[in-house]
Formats: sequence, structure tokens, C-alpha cells
Amino acid sequence: MEVLIMPNRKAATSLTSKLIANKVKSKPSCVLGLATGRTMEEVYDELAAMKLDFSNCTTFNLDEYIGLDGTDKNSYRYYMNEHLFKKINIKLFNTYLPNGVAKNMKEECEKYERLMADHGGIDIQLLGLGKSGHIGFNEPLSSLFSRTREKALTHTTIEQNSPIFDKPEDMPKRALTMGVGTILEAKKIIMLATGKDKAEILAKAVEGPITSMISATALQLHPSCTVIVDEDAASLLTEKDYYRWIFQNEPEWEGYR
Ligand code: GLP
Repeated sequence: MEVLIMPNRKAATSLTSKLIANKVKSKPSCVLGLATGRTMEEVYDELAAMKLDFSNCTTFNLDEYIGLDGTDKNSYRYYMNEHLFKKINIKLFNTYLPNGVAKNMKEECEKYERLMADHGGIDIQLLGLGKSGHIGFNEPLSSLFSRTREKALTHTTIEQNSPIFDKPEDMPKRALTMGVGTILEAKKIIMLATGKDKAEILAKAVEGPITSMISATALQLHPSCTVIVDEDAASLLTEKDYYRWIFQNEPEWEGYR
């Protein structure tokens, strides 16, 4: 894992979008793993503004609320269409999210896993960080080997996400999500976390012991995971100076500093 501390949210967001853009340019047929949430909105704005060629890309999103179809403005399908897919030249049939209104959820999850495998797996997986420590919707106690499946959402997540709903009480209490094991199979992972309210959980995710109580700690097991944060989200990390030193001394990051 490497931790890149950027001076502010804008810089953290820009670095994230640049890394995704680089992949799209170097491998036009890449498979991107995408995330939702407020943190990602600016990443998608920037990617759309770059006018890249997404015509050969395929995308798989992490998760979807159970009970919401793609026309519901709180569904993640709607979010993705609005924030990214409508603004770029991707073919909509190459964009996948789990179907939150599938008749048979178990079959839907197995189909989703098969589809990812048929496409050769995810080249870059983008992740946000939930206050419960979730990646995707892998709430506390998610097996570190888990695959795409149904998950009940925690109070912390409901508190975090329900204000986005017109009627907060309408937020679904269950979701379909890629598993921790599914996410760990991505060839490269980029997690973006910004703002003071992520500082506590970020410090646990990066510097704490690996535990199924905080799914994001599983990222420590991944051979190629980059965590991009702003100063606010980094504020409770104890080894900040070390991460900065590494960033300054890695030739890979020349041009990004
Ligand atoms: C939702 C998504 C997560 C995402 C989280 C972060 O819960 N299921 O994948 O990481 O939002 O949200 P925000 O960026 O709004 O803090």
C-alpha cells in the first residue's frame, strides 16, 4: 500500500482522475471498477472534462441499492448515468451495475461475478471509504473472502447516505455489493478519501490491524493499492512523515508532486 497525501481535496481528486485517465489512454479497452458517493462526483466531472475516448472501455460498479431500479434518482445506476456515462462516449451496454430489482438476487450476484471474470477482471478499481469502514457496501463483519452478495446496511451507513434521499426514511436498508474478496482481485486499487470526517476511519483502515470489522483494512493485503487523501483525511495518521518521504522519493510520482 502507498499513501499519497495531497494538500487539499482538489489536488487529491485531480490525482485520482489523472491516474484513471492514464489507464484509459494506455489501455483503451480497459475494465474500470467504479464507485459512487459524494467524493467521486468531482472525479467524474474531471474525467468527463478530459474528453477521453471511452468507446472501448467497460465498467463495473461496486454496488447498488436493493429495491431501486435505474430510473430512481437515488439508484447508483442513475448516479452513474448522470455524473459520468452521459458525459462521455462510453457505450451504455458496456457499463454494468448489479441489478437491485433482479428477481433472484443470488443468481444476479453470481452472474455479476461471471461477467467480471469473462471480461478478464478489473484493471483499476476506484474506491471511496464509508464511515463504517466499508468499501463498496461491505459492512462490518464482511468476510475478507466475500464475493458479490446481498448485505444489510448499518446505522452508520444509513446516517451517512440517507440525507441524499428526498425522504431519508426511503433509503433502502439492503444493497448488492461486490465482496471484499472480489475487490481484492482487481489488478490495481485506488482509494480516495477526503475531509475531516473520514480521518478517524482512514487511520484505522491504513494503520490499524486487519479485521473484518473494517473492510477497508483488507486493502493492506493488496499488492498494488494506492490511497489518495487530502490533509484533512490524513490528519490522524501517525506515520505521515514516512508516507511523504516515500512520495518524494519514488520516481513513479515525478510529475505528480
Ligand atoms: C457509499 C458507497 C461506497 C462509498 C461511500 C462513500 O456508501 N456504497 O462505495 O465509498 O458511499 O461516500 P461519500 O463519498 O459520500 O463519503
